[in-house]
Amino acid sequence: MRQGKVGLVLVMVFSLVLGLASASTGDQQPRWRKSLFSHGTTSSLLVNRVGSSILFPVHGNVHPYGYYNVTLYIGQPAKPYFLDLDTGSDLTWLQCDAPCVRCTEAPHPLYRPSNDLVPCNDPICVSLHPPGQHKCEDPDQCDYEVEYADGGSSLGVLVKDVFAFNYTNGQRLNPRLALGCGYDQVPGASSHPLDGILGLGRGESSIVSQLHGQKLIRNVVGHCLSGRSGGFLFFGDDLYDSSQVVWSPMSPDYTKYYSPGVAELFFAGKTTGIKNLPVVFDSGSSYTYLNHFTYQTLTSAIKKELSGKPLKESTDDKTLPLCWKGRKPFKTIRDVKKYFKPVALSFTDGRSKTLFEMTPEAYLIISLSGNVCLGMLNGSEVGLHELTVIGDISMQDKMVIYDNEKQRIGWMPANCDRMPKSKAVNI
Ligand SMILES: *[C@@H]1O[C@H](CO)[C@@H](O)[C@H](O)[C@H]1NC(C)=O
Ligand SMILES: *[C@@H]1O[C@H](CO)[C@@H](O)[C@H](O)[C@H]1NC(C)=O
Ligand SMILES: *[C@@H]1O[C@H](CO)[C@@H](O)[C@H](O)[C@H]1NC(C)=O
Repeated sequence: MRQGKVGLVLVMVFSLVLGLASASTGDQQPRWRKSLFSHGTTSSLLVNRVGSSILFPVHGNVHPYGYYNVTLYIGQPAKPYFLDLDTGSDLTWLQCDAPCVRCTEAPHPLYRPSNDLVPCNDPICVSLHPPGQHKCEDPDQCDYEVEYADGGSSLGVLVKDVFAFNYTNGQRLNPRLALGCGYDQVPGASSHPLDGILGLGRGESSIVSQLHGQKLIRNVVGHCLSGRSGGFLFFGDDLYDSSQVVWSPMSPDYTKYYSPGVAELFFAGKTTGIKNLPVVFDSGSSYTYLNHFTYQTLTSAIKKELSGKPLKESTDDKTLPLCWKGRKPFKTIRDVKKYFKPVALSFTDGRSKTLFEMTPEAYLIISLSGNVCLGMLNGSEVGLHELTVIGDISMQDKMVIYDNEKQRIGWMPANCDRMPKSKAVNI
């Protein structure tokens, strides 16, 4: 495979530079199958600063950018980097001057790695490799390779460096955290001009897991992505009122990702009869993906609803696979909202049911040429198989909370244009 060859080249280049001699592990784990060990423990560790969260403004949108980014300050002295926020993967990495074999276009100069290498037997390194495939050719170094569902990948070595954060109460913190120095990136189909990826998944290498491990934060991540661009991201649990949130337990069956388990699909308030869909929440995905049978069923239902309406399928708009043209170009979703029915996923946990509702805004975009396009795509085409992936489009204008402390995922409608205030009392 492509990545295999790349790994070989790197061995030499890399050993010349940092004096490290080790083959890349050659793990070719698509993001969806990356092996992560969930902690399994609902930690009740007392966090020193319970009542303090870390809050970041977010930039970007679903269309036309196709990503949401946050700025992190890393290194000594701290420098800014724009990172794609991704709850579908664990490792945070930066395009790195080790030197770089292949880097993609980046908004900032490449990260110069600290010389604080993460050793191969470090639990964070172990967590990035599938069980039984973790080899330590050089005990002093941890090689990694991550591959994402869009075909993009990053290969590099783990280092520790200082991150600069501010709590919402103004107090600064400068933890040393592990990150990937990525010196060989293959751009994916949806490559973005960013400095790296901010991994916020459930695994041990995730920045939130690491901050939690140092007792600096509660192991909770949340985001609010605005449909009008921008929004915010936070770590910690005091920026929302838990009683307003619809919570669903994280599934014990899909521990690699943030999954509330399997769902039943509803369209226009009625069941489609499709059940047992394994669902994953992934902020690193711009659109929502369905398995091909579900995609087929839903697109037929939508097309049926549209018959007799002044919308014609447009084959010349290549923005997304399915677009419709109106009598004149549309400006916003509001112009077409009345032609489209809500889609919902219903999760059942023994006694209680929770509903994740998607209004037309949560599955449609207006293309640059003024057509309306379906932002739910056929996941079988990108190798997602049976997984239903809830991407940014369907999480807009909601607060989505990944609570690793209580092993649950929550959502509620929210105004993502306004940064939240801490709900904690003693600040
Ligand atoms: C990322 O966010 C920053 C603000 O934090 C913004 O200035 C920048 O334009 C964004 N970068 C990209 C590539 O969109
Ligand atoms: C933290 O707050 C200080 C003071 O407001 C500011 O100068 C600094 O840029 C902030 N750092 C980060 C990482 O946001
Ligand atoms: C979805 O993608 C799969 C795999 O490429 C393909 O076989 C199937 O026909 C597609 N389904 C629809 C409805 O386009």
